[in-house]
Amino acid sequence: MLEIREGVVEYLEIDGQKELKGTVRISGAKNSALPDMAAAVLTDEPVVLENLPYLLDVSTMRSLLEHIGFDIQELSEGVFSLRLKDISSLEAPYELVSRMRASILVLGPMLTRFGYAKVALPGGCSIGTRPVDLHLKALKQMGADITVEHGFIYAKAPYGLKGVHVRFNKKTVTGTENIMMAAVLADGETVIENAAMEPEVVDLANMLKKMGANIKGEGTDRIIIKGVKKLSGVKHRIIPDRIEAGTFAVLSALFGGSIVLENYPVRYLDYVHKVFNKIGIDVVPISENQVAVRSSQKLKPVYIQTKEYPYFPTDLQAQFMTMLSVVEGRSRITENIFENRFMHVPELKRLGADITVRGKDAFIKGVEKLTGAQVKATDLRASAAMVIAGLIAEGKTRIYDIYHLDRGYENIDAKLRLLGASVKRGFEEISG
Ligand code: EPZ
Repeated sequence: MLEIREGVVEYLEIDGQKELKGTVRISGAKNSALPDMAAAVLTDEPVVLENLPYLLDVSTMRSLLEHIGFDIQELSEGVFSLRLKDISSLEAPYELVSRMRASILVLGPMLTRFGYAKVALPGGCSIGTRPVDLHLKALKQMGADITVEHGFIYAKAPYGLKGVHVRFNKKTVTGTENIMMAAVLADGETVIENAAMEPEVVDLANMLKKMGANIKGEGTDRIIIKGVKKLSGVKHRIIPDRIEAGTFAVLSALFGGSIVLENYPVRYLDYVHKVFNKIGIDVVPISENQVAVRSSQKLKPVYIQTKEYPYFPTDLQAQFMTMLSVVEGRSRITENIFENRFMHVPELKRLGADITVRGKDAFIKGVEKLTGAQVKATDLRASAAMVIAGLIAEGKTRIYDIYHLDRGYENIDAKLRLLGASVKRGFEEISG
């Protein structure tokens, strides 16, 4: 498993404009792996998860579950067994939560099964303040006694949680997942209105139903859960990562479609494909679970708005911005989900992109080409956008702070080298 090495700055060095071709296998979805691992808290029987990606965030979730008392074994490539036999702690400590906000996903399961949870309040991150007020408000409605002090969430429900009618005033993915997991062992029926509809929410519901949960409406904005007494163990396969898939699809389009994508989840990317088509890019199935991404014409500028699923995902915004930075004409991207998700813009401008940000809008004027420079990754998905930029830029690009990259993309440099890219990892001692 990956870990962060202290006192050393790691970077990726890319020599751009190499010819890329070959096949990339899309890994299991990070944003399914994390809630699905947290769901293992809901049973004392063995849980086996398949297609788990080797990501820093998955390692962090593993450390958190082992801290709680889980025995976790790697059975084979990407296959892990998780078993919570004896609780050793009902606390999610700060050093783990600060590394990965999604640690909040153990709150609902721990509270509904054990009646108590102490979870460090997740900090913000570079894309925004990332509050969890909607999670806490819904759990309070379910009868939990919640206090937040000294940077921790103290949640108590000694007599269990009760099913209620929850209405989120904005769609929240992990909020929906947390309440769904809290509701499966609650007393009575829970209705979640304005629920998130992401495929990862549906995947979690599918896993919980295989464990014996009673859930209806997942994938719509109204989910109904009838609490049951106990959940059994399960074997569950994580769905492919639609964001990694979209990232490599952008790369393939920029390199003339010579990259074949395997395990590509077409069904989760309908709206993204509509945007690709507007730009002049086609996703072409070439076998049962392989696609090629080709551009049969000159790429055209577009206007993209990020929205909750099933619309354009905020997690692909930076990658599309990189592509549009070298598409002739004027494009525009509106970021509606996070308040600060344009941190990659100044970095792209260091590579020669012509982008102006005004509030939620980024105005992109296509340039002939990007040229290599030293840049840094600013958040998980923007780091992939910087890699794409380095691959199309003329000359060498060095990307710092790439721990963001390892959080969300499995062995991305190895995958790119297999395609013919000149990408190498380097380390610089932090001086002074
Ligand atoms: C999930 O984060 C994903 N993470 C994010 O992916 C993704 O960008 C995001 O959904 C949006 O699609 C995981 O699934 C682990 P939200 P989440 O709650 O659940 C506001 C990646 O790169 N909000 O749907 O934290 C929030 O500030 C990551 O893989 C509240 O105001 O996002 C944001 O503006 C980055 N109060 C909006 O809702 C709350 O209690 C959507 O956030 C919760 C959220």
